[in-house]
Amino acid sequence: MKDKTRLAVFASGTGSNYDAIDQAIKQGTLDAEVVMIVCDRPGAQVIEKADQNKVATFVFDPKDYQTKVDFETEIAQQLREVKVDWVILAGYMRLVGPTLLAAYHGRMVNIHPSLLPAFPGLDAIGQALHAGVKVSGVTIHYVDQGMDTGKIIAQQPVKIEEDMTREVLQRKIQDVEHMLYPKTIQQLIKEGE
Ligand code: GAR
Repeated sequence: MKDKTRLAVFASGTGSNYDAIDQAIKQGTLDAEVVMIVCDRPGAQVIEKADQNKVATFVFDPKDYQTKVDFETEIAQQLREVKVDWVILAGYMRLVGPTLLAAYHGRMVNIHPSLLPAFPGLDAIGQALHAGVKVSGVTIHYVDQGMDTGKIIAQQPVKIEEDMTREVLQRKIQDVEHMLYPKTIQQLIKEGE
């Protein structure tokens, strides 16, 4: 039998997308294994989730390193040790630098809560509400050196109703994310076989 595709999930916060990936694996709709969680915020909720699932974690504080190259070199080393096939950014609120990009080019994807190229960067949901658009959504894309600029793989729109609160829009967007991310990762894995 073929070995399972080995994923590393990078996250900075709650980790609800990590949860969705984990659920899809447990339900058998995603044929992969999460072998490491990488987190740049000690104390983030996602670490607890990884511990509960007995998944290895690499947690670091960027302040403890002089440069991005320093901490990314260490991350790359950790990923190599556990033989990671794909890097999945799921709420990793940091621009990936050349060290990791070189190591995982074409095998690193990100999820973003807007229909890119609209509203890249921080607080995409707030940006959409502020702009008054009637439709926003979710984008999954390859990671390149830019801020949410890599080649788009999948998108799904979410309608913004009149007077919709931020909380409601965020929940709708996250519901879409939790479905779309595992499904898209599974497609990428299949295409790569
Ligand atoms: C997700 O909505 C993701 O799209 C967003 O952060 C959230 C993380 O939630 N990412 C970005 O804004 C990246 N620019 P989670 O920790 O519950 O998965």
